[in-house]
Amino acid sequence: MEKDILILAIESSCDETAAAVVKNGREVLSNVISSQIALHTLYGGVVPEIASRKHIEAIDGVIQAALQEAGITLDEIDAVGVTYGPGLVGALLVGLAEAKALAFATGKPLIGVHHIEGHICANYIENKDFTPPYMALVVSGGHSHLVYVSDYGKYEILGRTRDDAAGEAYDKVARAIGMGYPGGPKIDAAAKKGNPDAVHFPRVFLEGDSYDFSFSGLKSAVLNYVNKQKMMGEPIVPEDVAASFQQSVVEVLVTKTMRAAKEKGVSKIALAGGVASNSTLREQMRGACEKEGLYLSIPSPVLCTDNAAMIGCAAYYEYIAGVRDGLDLNANPGLKLGER
Ligand code: KG4
Ligand code: ZN
Repeated sequence: MEKDILILAIESSCDETAAAVVKNGREVLSNVISSQIALHTLYGGVVPEIASRKHIEAIDGVIQAALQEAGITLDEIDAVGVTYGPGLVGALLVGLAEAKALAFATGKPLIGVHHIEGHICANYIENKDFTPPYMALVVSGGHSHLVYVSDYGKYEILGRTRDDAAGEAYDKVARAIGMGYPGGPKIDAAAKKGNPDAVHFPRVFLEGDSYDFSFSGLKSAVLNYVNKQKMMGEPIVPEDVAASFQQSVVEVLVTKTMRAAKEKGVSKIALAGGVASNSTLREQMRGACEKEGLYLSIPSPVLCTDNAAMIGCAAYYEYIAGVRDGLDLNANPGLKLGER
């Protein structure tokens, strides 16, 4: 029998300080997340300087808890995996410096992971038989990507956002209709009580064959609607605005993903990133896949938003492919998917 590979993984690219222990890529022994969301809520969004300071406070405790929960010691791990980009540079540096110190002290290899690759790999954790090739829709607070995954670690970006990311649009619209931060879960919940046909917002598909996204026009349309209603002294029903906005986002995401899957001739689709925990996106993507006879993989919500288990999974596939990083690895806030 081959030896088990244990990866200690660290994630600190935004406002979650997270550590996990992952066995053989797909078995999560622990997944500890310390969220700063409550703190950033006070400011209506993530304050980078505060995020870095909170990461430095939390990170040792989070790693200790992850090791303890997994029932292993540092000596037993085979490698340290860490997100080194993209993300907030000051936040990334905290996790990276910690990972480098641990790799140096233990003499274990260091493996830098692309944050989006981590989000995509979250699909391998609960779904042990899920393998490439497939089409991945990655929708988070910072990214909206349509990615063709031909093999482990092999990514072709077919489309990306030209302005706001899907999650960013959710957050900005939520602020405009007084729902606060983070907007995604709030709009998701409010939309359940609203009518998606109440207000017609534009569906932005761009040029006919484009896989790119654009959400800033939709955001402006929502803001204009809200202002117009106020000026005319007409009431705003936040639940209806939330449901109508969400329907516009989801329709575009589903349509483009299905078209890309068809073009590449894949039989599987995977959702990833914080917005993949959106209940309407999950539901409508499921409906579209059933209709077309495609297999759909969606991680549990806790594995959609930022976590370190997904980083451990991605690091494992890099590890077995022979990837090793030096102790001079730097944070790269603009790191491109598939680049090292
Ligand atoms: O992947 P993630 O945790 O962090 C980034 O890498 O950006 O994604 C966070 C984003 C936020 O914009 C948040 O509003 C959005 O994901 N989000 C949601 C939902 N839960 C989180 N958006 C829509 N519906 C949700 N249920
Ligand atoms: Zn993320």
